[in-house]
Amino acid sequence: MKRERWGSKIGVILAVAGSAVGLGNFLRFPVQAVKNGGGAFMIPYFISLFLLGIPLMWIEWTIGRFGGGFGHGTAPGIFHTLWRKNRFIKYFGVIGIFGPIAIFIYYTYIESWLLAYTFFPLRNDFASINSTHEMVEFLNGFRGIVKNQYFSSILTAYIFFILTFSLNLIIIYFGIKRGIERVCKVAMPTLFLFAIILVIRVLTLKNELNPDWSPLNGLGFLWNPEFSSLKDARVWLSAAGQIFFTLSVGIGVILTYASYLSKDDDVLLSGLTSASTNEFAEVILGGSIVIPAAFVFFGPVGIKEIANQGSFDLGFVTMPLILKSLSFGRIFEIMWFFLLFLAGLTSSISLAQPAIAFLEDEFNLSKKKCVLIFGIICFLLSNFAIFFLSKGVIDELDFWGGTFALVIFATIETILFAWIFGMENAWEEMHSGSDINLPSFYKFIIKYITPSFLIFILLFWTVQYAIPTLLLKNVKPENLPYILITRFILLVIFVVLCILVKISWDRKGEKIET
Ligand code: ALA
Repeated sequence: MKRERWGSKIGVILAVAGSAVGLGNFLRFPVQAVKNGGGAFMIPYFISLFLLGIPLMWIEWTIGRFGGGFGHGTAPGIFHTLWRKNRFIKYFGVIGIFGPIAIFIYYTYIESWLLAYTFFPLRNDFASINSTHEMVEFLNGFRGIVKNQYFSSILTAYIFFILTFSLNLIIIYFGIKRGIERVCKVAMPTLFLFAIILVIRVLTLKNELNPDWSPLNGLGFLWNPEFSSLKDARVWLSAAGQIFFTLSVGIGVILTYASYLSKDDDVLLSGLTSASTNEFAEVILGGSIVIPAAFVFFGPVGIKEIANQGSFDLGFVTMPLILKSLSFGRIFEIMWFFLLFLAGLTSSISLAQPAIAFLEDEFNLSKKKCVLIFGIICFLLSNFAIFFLSKGVIDELDFWGGTFALVIFATIETILFAWIFGMENAWEEMHSGSDINLPSFYKFIIKYITPSFLIFILLFWTVQYAIPTLLLKNVKPENLPYILITRFILLVIFVVLCILVKISWDRKGEKIET
């Protein structure tokens, strides 16, 4: 079966940037910066970007295009083409399909809240809400956690979930060029336009009662460096974690997108451009909306409290309260939630694509069948996450899919590329068809620094976070059964994927080796 292709260079760059630009840019990043030393956080952040993020971006673009040339768009096949002699490496590649599925299961639900919150201002639903407490009540009522004067059931949230979930499947069904590329070409410029308008509005805010609570001082609050924070290893880990999260590297999605390139398409400049687009959206736009806005309204003391409540509250609770008090506030609210929805949508379609590509490439199934199988399975699993949200199911899925899988996958792909495939082959493959030449010190970085950095992170993170989580520390006793069921489900997904890999390779008779 002939594999699909991207329609244009700008299309694939926008699609990869779309996967990267997400809630992480507008909500997670500013909160991470405030919590981890302000401007000083940018030191480990940029070090991680240059030693980890950009190399991984290049690796994933390169191995994706390479594997695509052999008809493989997902990690099991791609890893096998890189290390033909090894019969087991394909099973490690399963992580690159498993992770995106685990994230997709809950991500589309959160994305659907953004769609709903885009509609609420149209009905003026926030009109009677004037405090953080009421806004939290509204959110909890909407999610069906409590029944209150705002919502008597989860029905509204569920309808928006069905809409969002179906929209994702429809885009995927239309395929790479007519679905994903077309959507990203419209969604990305729209998202940037709305973000720029919001930045301008926020930076021109004034607080008449407290003139010191200005947006400029808000930016100062975010960027003033606290250099002592750099002595804390957790700050370095947070910076590296943010780079993974924001660039969508280590998940398994970028290699799938890159597998739809042609053999002589450029990967280096395109990879760099998509990473730079993401960084602009993160550091410049993401850094200039929520924190300065919250500073103007809540001042230097209030904002600390807000940042500690997490990025989530900042987006769904604090921002609508701030925006509603402005003239034309409802329009700004709509822009805010719609831009986040688009950021989410362009990320979630990239999370769905690996599983679809796997079924298409390795089982020669039609797109329709793939979307149907994927849709039914994920829909059932999402329902578990939706109805047991308050039991910690989403956090658990995020830990395994969004953190654990990611660090391990990135380490494996880097070692495979630089050491097994070999740095000379790797360098040649990266530069084939390339519009730029990399400075040769990047050869050294990719061979030695990136893998060492990754192994260090993996070890530190295992001791600090993975072992306590594995041993179910900090799990409330009443949530324990739900957490165990979630783990069981994830294990089943992983094992089923391994079995599917085995069946497919058995059927093809380990074709790649010959
Ligand atoms: N890269 C996506 C984000 O930043 C997941 O939200």
